[in-house]
This record gives sequence, structure tokens and C-alpha cells, in this order.
Amino acid sequence: MAIHVPEPLAWPLAVIFGLTFVPLWSLFRRLFVAPYAPPICDLRGKVCVVTGGNTGIGYETAVGLAQRGATVKIACRDATRGRDAAERAAAAVGTGAGTVDFVALDLGDLDSVRACAASLAQCDILVCNGGINSLAPAKPTKEGYSAVFGVNYVGHQVLVFELQRRLTVGRIVLLSSVMHRWAAHDAATLSDPPYNTALGQLDHNRGYSESKLNMVLLAVELNRRAAAAGGGPVAAAVDPGAVRSDIWRHTPGLLMWAWDLLMRATFLTPAQGAAPSIHAATLPTAALAAAARAKHAPYFAPYPTPDFCPLPFEMMGPFCGACACAPRLPAEYEAVAARVVAAVEKRV
Ligand SMILES: NC(=O)c1ccc[n+]([C@@H]2O[C@H](COP(=O)([O-])OP(=O)(O)OC[C@H]3O[C@@H](n4cnc5c(N)ncnc54)[C@H](OP(=O)(O)O)[C@@H]3O)[C@@H](O)[C@H]2O)c1
Repeated sequence: MAIHVPEPLAWPLAVIFGLTFVPLWSLFRRLFVAPYAPPICDLRGKVCVVTGGNTGIGYETAVGLAQRGATVKIACRDATRGRDAAERAAAAVGTGAGTVDFVALDLGDLDSVRACAASLAQCDILVCNGGINSLAPAKPTKEGYSAVFGVNYVGHQVLVFELQRRLTVGRIVLLSSVMHRWAAHDAATLSDPPYNTALGQLDHNRGYSESKLNMVLLAVELNRRAAAAGGGPVAAAVDPGAVRSDIWRHTPGLLMWAWDLLMRATFLTPAQGAAPSIHAATLPTAALAAAARAKHAPYFAPYPTPDFCPLPFEMMGPFCGACACAPRLPAEYEAVAARVVAAVEKRV
């Protein structure tokens, strides 16, 4: 039986429902959902590099990996903020666990990316976390890529291959987002102009979704190459969920006030948002490969996000820490992934 709501009442009822349900759900989540503890493992002797590790999800990922004994390098663009974060992280980790220090990296400048790779003597786990959203200033990167696409994707692809050329990297974690679902998914847009070739012309908003779909495709392509070569790093993409972090710092003034209220009620904390990254960084290879086989690509999210309505789950889904989910992939995604990665490889 359909319930008919008279039109003048629809909006007030929606507002009343939102104002009661959202805080109640938020309270329920806080009270009854257990905090997630990623797998305990011993990372002593391992070096982990976390890009954008000076704040937000990256900072919490750095702390989590150091707590498991790793030597963690926070790779970020501002030396003062980087050293300060490394000190704070080292204090949070305490003695007897791993160490945290800083290495310079500007993902928007490929010379800096190459210098960062050259400065590292060991990198067992690379977490490609640094990023900006489409509210950030739209200034193109040094090489002329749209800021979002250049920082979030191109800088990371170059870092991955520069490190792989020099060192033996065991695990690569690539930060994606639920937004990858809204990228163009046709092969022509993904691998042909203006996507990868018309530098600086990529639309800023579209750039975020496409940069995040590319992170999933890069994981697919890295795993395909490793399988073909009989060895190489194992890669996984992760969605940290909707997280109340500094990424929202460019939200316009008054809107930020309302947005922050919503974030406080429904978003995850950066420590919760770091769970999928830590999970993907530390899961045994066989378990990661099994998850990848089941879902077409290794992709972890903090909620079991269903395909039919991802956004409500993204903001309010029952937090599980890290579950293997199926990303939204283009048709013939393996061939598309190879083309997309090769197109950027050819340019840089
Ligand atoms: N928060 C969310 O709701 C959400 C949702 C889905 C996916 N993600 C993804 O999660 C990742 C981490 O985001 P977050 O929420 O933790 O954001 P955040 O708190 O703003 O942290 C982003 C980090 O990236 C760094 N970064 C930005 N531009 C850089 C550049 N050119 N070179 C080097 N580092 C740079 C930032 O450094 P500065 O401090 O110097 O700016 C910062 O350390 C991002 O890839 C984001 O797209 C976030």
C-alpha cells in the first residue's frame, strides 16, 4: 500500500526525518559499533612510505603502521608540517614500536616526485594517500595537469614506477573514493584525449572522480604486470569512507559551518578512515589476492557498500573497518587499465 504524503508536507517531513534519524543513527553507531582493529602483524624491519601523511587519514595510517613496528616515512610537501607531524606521530606511537620521520614530496611537481623516490633506500609498503578534492584551488600542477588529477593520480603513478625501478616494493595501497563511481567509464574518455593528453584542460570536478577511478585501474594494472612478470608488488585500492578531515578545508565559509555539523554527525574520524589503508597494507598476500578474485579488483571500504545506493552507505553505513567491495569498473577493465596507465607513462 503506497503512502500518499500531501506535497506541502513533503519537505517539512523530510527535514524532521533528517533531524531525528541522522543524530539517532550517529548515536547508535557511536554506542554499538565496536572500534575496528586491523590485523595485528609485525612490521619490524619494514619501511613504509605514506604520502600526505602529515594530517588526516595519512597521519593515522602512519601512526597505525608505526605501532606495528614499521619505520614510517611521512612524505609531504611542507617540511615544517611534515617534521611536526612526524614528532607527534612518534610521541603517539611511544617507545618500543616503530619510528616516524619525514621525507619531502610535492605530488604536483614531478621533479620533486623523482627526487623523493631517489632519496629512499628501502620501501616495502607504499601508501599513495596524499590528495586534494575539487574544492581546492584549481591551479594546474607544474607539468600543467589539472590540480586534482595531477596531484591525486599522475604524481602517484610516477612515484610508483620510479620506486619500482629502484627498489623492491612489496605492497602498494592506492587511495580511491566512492566518487570513482561517477567518473566517465567509457574506454575512449578514460584513455584518450583530452583525458591524459590535453594538459591542464581537464575539468576540475571531473578530475576528482577520474583520478580516483584511475587509482583502482592502477591497482588492476600493477597486479596484471606482476602476474605476467612472475613477481612484483601487490597492489590494492581503498575507499576510506566519508571522513571528517582537512580535505574539506576549502569549503566556502557559511556552508562549512553546516557541512561540519553534518560531518560531526555522520562522517568517520580520520583514525576510522585509516582502517582500510592499514588493512590493505598489512593483509597477507594470499588473502588480498582472494579478495581481489572475488570482487574483480582488490578494493576495500569501511562499509559493505551496495552497488544500488553507495552514497547513503558511504556516509552512514555500518562501520566494519575494512571489507572487500566491488568497485565500479569500466567494461573490459583490464584492457582499459593497461591503456590508461600506458597513456600517462608515455607523457611523463
Ligand atoms: N576525507 C574524505 O572524506 C575522503 C573520502 C574519499 C577519499 N579520500 C582520499 O583520502 C586521501 C586522504 O585524504 P584526507 O581526507 O586525509 O585529506 P587531508 O586531511 O586534507 O590530507 C591530505 C594530505 O595530502 C597532502 N597533499 C595535498 N596536496 C599535496 C601535494 N601536492 N603533494 C604532497 N602532498 C599533498 C596534504 O598535505 P598538506 O597538509 O600540505 O595540504 C595532506 O597531508 C585523499 O587521497 C582523499 O582523496 C578522502
